[in-house]
Amino acid sequence: MRRLCAEGDVPDGQGRGFAFGSGMEREAVFVIRWKSKLLGYRNSCPHIGTPLDWPENRFFDIDGEFLMCGGHGAVFRPEDGYCFEGPCSGRSLARIEIKVEGGDIFWNDDKSSLRATVLAVKRFDGCVRRRAMSVCPAALR
Ligand code: FES
Repeated sequence: MRRLCAEGDVPDGQGRGFAFGSGMEREAVFVIRWKSKLLGYRNSCPHIGTPLDWPENRFFDIDGEFLMCGGHGAVFRPEDGYCFEGPCSGRSLARIEIKVEGGDIFWNDDKSSLRATVLAVKRFDGCVRRRAMSVCPAALR
């Protein structure tokens, strides 16, 4: 568990971003409070992987109704991170597990669960490659 901030630091209809580490080890997440509920996502737009907040800590659109990427304007539902408008329409933000304890917000950044996800993606990728090789003559050369 990693402490992000005090619960009171994220007012309703606003968000706050956090970054840890640097280079390939850098991890960025953000927390929003939407309709009194706290939700957390990785701060990486499904379009090209850049942070959503531009300017810093601005995650909601001007009406405070939807999440919006400052890069190219993709619009996401706050409740599940689903993009319904913009260049990554149909894709979603990656949810993170957060919990409130003693008035503070914590991110469950358990590396073992992240590692399991990476392994599952690699297995899937290998399956796709094997399938592509069986139908692509160029891959057989
Ligand atoms: S980087 Fe988010 S919409 Fe392009």
